[in-house]
Amino acid sequence: MIPETGAVLDLDDIQAGALRERPSPYVGRYLLLRLDDPVQGRELVRRLHSLLVAARDTAESEAQAWLTVAFTYRGLEALGVPQASLDSFPREFREGMAARAQELGDVGDSSPSSWEPPLGTPDVHVALSVLASDQDRLDAVAERARARYADLTSVTVVWRQDCYQLPSGRTSFGFKDGIGNPDVEGSGLPDRNPTEPPLKAGEFILGYPDETGSLPPMPTPEVLGRNGTFLVFRKLHTKVAAYRSYLQERARDREEQVLLGAKMVGRWPSGAPLVLAPDGDDPDLGADPDRNNAFGYRDDLRGFKCPAGAHARRANPRDALDHEMTVDVRLHRMIRRGTSYGPMLPEGVLEDDGVDRGIIFVFAGAHLKRQFEFVKTQWLNDGIFIGAPQESDPLVGSAGPTTSFTIPRTPIRRRLRDLPPFVVTRGGEYCFAPGLRALQWLGDLDT
Ligand code: HEM
Repeated sequence: MIPETGAVLDLDDIQAGALRERPSPYVGRYLLLRLDDPVQGRELVRRLHSLLVAARDTAESEAQAWLTVAFTYRGLEALGVPQASLDSFPREFREGMAARAQELGDVGDSSPSSWEPPLGTPDVHVALSVLASDQDRLDAVAERARARYADLTSVTVVWRQDCYQLPSGRTSFGFKDGIGNPDVEGSGLPDRNPTEPPLKAGEFILGYPDETGSLPPMPTPEVLGRNGTFLVFRKLHTKVAAYRSYLQERARDREEQVLLGAKMVGRWPSGAPLVLAPDGDDPDLGADPDRNNAFGYRDDLRGFKCPAGAHARRANPRDALDHEMTVDVRLHRMIRRGTSYGPMLPEGVLEDDGVDRGIIFVFAGAHLKRQFEFVKTQWLNDGIFIGAPQESDPLVGSAGPTTSFTIPRTPIRRRLRDLPPFVVTRGGEYCFAPGLRALQWLGDLDT
């Protein structure tokens, strides 16, 4: 049964965590579990099932707190998923994130040998995330989940990470995050971006036509793949003191520091896009969801307002690549659900306090390779596509031990040199979040 183009998304079967916007602000908890016995693993899946929330559920309690469950390749193996089905998953997923480290630029301090255990090891099987509008709701859902696995002696929590979003939406470098997300056909969510038509649902949810007009490859059997999505999570430590010091050393005053920081991101701290507010921050614009995404780069192809190398412009060049017949930006979009972890470094502090802080980066999409991996390797790590092969992303890239960043200006451009890496990968995983019927199938496996 192949859904027609524009087919209605089965929101009753898709887990809320894949599609739904989070409340703002919110708190979250990620838990990783190891399964030492397939029978108990499947028991866990059956028990968690009734706690899960579908994308359609909008009851007050479900809109304010929800659990999402996803599995690594090893996790599906640990549940006893038949080999033919395991083999039908894409290669990147089967290999896992740690095996893709060289490709992704996770080298040096970011290499898997330095990752926080057990990230990147075969011990990571199940990923649970609980998100809620407040701590009490989060604790209640997390406790309900815990009660379902507490007596399962072969189910072990091997990692926990608490995280949160500040009311301002700002993360550790001081910039509001989570603004640039695509509208998705049939998602039931409001369309926010008048400059980018909603993307085909198949770009994000398996079992539906994607932007190429065809069905993306889907794991088999169909009941397992349909309405699932791939999730990528990465724990990214941010070197906030080093970042602030770097900017301070290169700026005449505070105003110029903020300007240089904004040029590196492509938005001002409030979230206002540089192309719409080239001369200074505009908090009203940054806070307005109907306007803060309504822009392209076509009128700024040379990057005088927003440099081509700015993080957000690299990660989504929008219409800036329309002349490049070989690149269709719509094939490289992603749903992002990033979250802060660790306390913020107090304003003005330039000394590293040794505290771990950063972002739990979360990607949701149907294509690990042409979405997440493509953006990370071709657009963030590499600068060939903007004619600056030696420059990687000034915030999160990795072309080498240092990089440079060009800010177009008249009469002469400014080039920031010797940018050290400000982000260190602490670990991550590629996961698959199945639909609710698929979870039933997994729980009922008899192998
Ligand atoms: C610690 C690491 C990172 C930080 C601090 C960071 C920060 C930001 C900020 C401040 C924005 C602008 C606000 C917004 O549009 O939401 C942004 C946008 C974005 N980032 Fe990141 N980011 C990080 C890592 C990544 C990674 C690893 C990827 C992808 C592989 C990525 C992909 C994107 C995308 C797609 C956008 C939206 C661009 C747009 O639609 O205009 N980011 N990021």
